[in-house]
Amino acid sequence: MTARAKPLFAANWKMFKGPLEAEEFAGSFSSLYAAHPDRRVAFFPPAISLEAFVRATEQRPDLEAGIQDVHEEVDGAHTGAISALMAAQVGLTWALAGHSERRREFGDDDALVSAKVCRILDSGLKPIVCIGETLEEREAGMLSEVLERQIRAVLASVDGEPLTWAYEPVWAIGTGLTASPDDAGEAHEIVREAIRGGGGGELADSAVILYGGSVKPGNIEQLMAVPGVDGVLVGGASLDPETFASICACSLGAR
Ligand code: PGA
Repeated sequence: MTARAKPLFAANWKMFKGPLEAEEFAGSFSSLYAAHPDRRVAFFPPAISLEAFVRATEQRPDLEAGIQDVHEEVDGAHTGAISALMAAQVGLTWALAGHSERRREFGDDDALVSAKVCRILDSGLKPIVCIGETLEEREAGMLSEVLERQIRAVLASVDGEPLTWAYEPVWAIGTGLTASPDDAGEAHEIVREAIRGGGGGELADSAVILYGGSVKPGNIEQLMAVPGVDGVLVGGASLDPETFASICACSLGAR
């Protein structure tokens, strides 16, 4: 298991907060949340706000940042796109890949997500690979099948590098519905076993697996107490500095 990995609290801002709001948030959050040496905190602002956010948190090395998506190629004639190498120049740590909104709205399928993960690793950034089932897939009894397919596609294209994953049931994203601790625990176990099957025991044991989907102050402690949950990826509840600060400062119990 991941006894050594510090829990990660990640904020996915999606298409919210331009540079001005990102800077303002950074100021408020920094005064509300004191660095906790036992955990990591990372923000994923829109790409256009990254530089402002990184500058505004210069005095807070405990607050990391990442990009929400990158192009699958190193460079080229791809109007509007951003490469992982460019993102790395801004002083980021992380990059998301395969968020369900990218999969649904932009056609990021398993092959594309895997290519993006490779570019992210090449650039020196750390990928957070998002995976998860839709409600239809869950109801059809396809939970394991979907997660295994998404995981194997990525593991088949990387070279054994340790990865961070975010299990986000699509039906829980932005809906107010959260997986029960039992459901989250079961899914995290499936994810770790699929990593073991596709990449071996060492990779499975070192994998950091976040939970995402309607995480909020009222359920964070319950979710963080689930065995196998190594952190959270928070959307809506990360947009308000006070709310996200209370999530990040939650009690980690006997972890
Ligand atoms: P949510 O989003 O917390 O608003 O459900 C989570 C995510 O999409 O990462």
